[in-house]
Amino acid sequence: MSNKVLIFDTTLRDGEQVPGCQLNTIEKIQVAQALEALGVDVIEAGFPISSPGDFRSVVEISKAITNPVICALTRAVKKDIEVAADALQFAKRKRIHTGIGTSPYHIQYKIRTTPEEIVRRAVDAVKYARKFVDDVEFYAEDAGRSDNEYLAKVIEAVIKAGATVVNIPDTTGYCLPEEYGAKIRYLMENVPNIDKAVISTHCHNDLGMATANTIMGVINGARQVEVTINGIGERAGNTSLEEVAMIIKSHHDLGLETNINSKLIYSTSRLVSTLMSMPVQANKAIVGRNAFAHSSGIHQDGVLKHRENYEIIDPHEVGIRESSIILTARSGRAALNHRLELLGLKFGKEELDDIYHRFLLLADKKKEINDEDIRILSGEVFKGEKSLKLELLQVTCGRSAIPVATVGIRINGEVHTSTASGNGPIDASFTAVRHLISKTVHLEEFLIQAITKGSDDLGKVHIQVEHEGRTYYGFSANTDIITASVEAFIDAIAKIK
Ligand code: KIV
Ligand code: ZN
Repeated sequence: MSNKVLIFDTTLRDGEQVPGCQLNTIEKIQVAQALEALGVDVIEAGFPISSPGDFRSVVEISKAITNPVICALTRAVKKDIEVAADALQFAKRKRIHTGIGTSPYHIQYKIRTTPEEIVRRAVDAVKYARKFVDDVEFYAEDAGRSDNEYLAKVIEAVIKAGATVVNIPDTTGYCLPEEYGAKIRYLMENVPNIDKAVISTHCHNDLGMATANTIMGVINGARQVEVTINGIGERAGNTSLEEVAMIIKSHHDLGLETNINSKLIYSTSRLVSTLMSMPVQANKAIVGRNAFAHSSGIHQDGVLKHRENYEIIDPHEVGIRESSIILTARSGRAALNHRLELLGLKFGKEELDDIYHRFLLLADKKKEINDEDIRILSGEVFKGEKSLKLELLQVTCGRSAIPVATVGIRINGEVHTSTASGNGPIDASFTAVRHLISKTVHLEEFLIQAITKGSDDLGKVHIQVEHEGRTYYGFSANTDIITASVEAFIDAIAKIK
């Protein structure tokens, strides 16, 4: 048996069924092109009879894509099959994916017929589809809850009718990995003509077992897996492409391979997430924001000593530039020093101790310290003693309160204080500062920026003041924006000669 596992991507069909994830045709072409570059073998481009939009997308994707097989979904209904064949007319390699429910639930309560009638309709659909295309995939909907003996009969019949691929969906995501694996093994051993078709897995994630079930399917003989980018899909989603591809790549013991270019996994994940407005959960395997992030001091130290201590995949392998050491209050000197070095900043032990001290103070106020924070922290080390330094700032403000600020500034070694009111806390503080200095300064520009996003973020303040026709620039950053503003104001004034 071949060791190649074919990747059938259904992001544009099962994935796109998710409410709010609908894409227009241009966006679908963009995703399909990314999937082609990624190396998927089959792209399920849509369900053409379901809407004119889906029909058009299958047509346009068929025109735009060269290498992967383009697949269109149908029910076991003649009209569906005719419309799918029409939509696929421009595909260089085409497949019709037709099928019907085979579980007691579907037979009795959904289709309301008999098991014998299901076999007849399944066979008719496959034969009809073969009139239009050579490559016909049959799905036995809810195969996960179908009786194995009956399922084997259906599969034997559809292969005889011309199916080239037989899809065994765990439509409701109910199967246990062992159970799903045993189902595939049962079909491998009990369908006499199984060598004439490829078995495909199609697992849903209702109980969080989609990837495990897919892998068990492959271990037991399936050679095609139906997956989506980021695992998006109906309800709890489908098996995620990136997980299966990286399991197969990492576990050499499986002796299997795919055609996926893993270096494009991350960018494809981002593209799909952005176009579908579907954020990827932070701890999602392979592509989540934290998938290669280390925040505990012990893990950070371990990764820095030898990446494999805590990483089983090199992030470069999936197109992520580097594993991220998240700097938090739990990070040690080694992690901080590593980040400083990555930023091109080298310090001796004493300076590093000083930066580390500041770092811990900031980390107590702010959950995560980013590169901008680090640059600011390390820059402060070299600012040296200032002729003007803010020593005290106390502000009263709020709704119905008159803003009042008391400011204490060290001027040439001595602390001077002043209190003033204003139309807001910053105006009050700046007025108090003006009382303490002998120079006349005009505020020309005042800009407050959050560095990243959270309410615990550092605020950056840029200030430009004018004194006797010359402009002076001041800057500061602090989690308290009023403090940052006053420090930036003083920083500018201190530069006046
Ligand atoms: O989950 C499922 O059974 C399906 C089929 C239509 C293949 O998506
Ligand atoms: Zn499905």
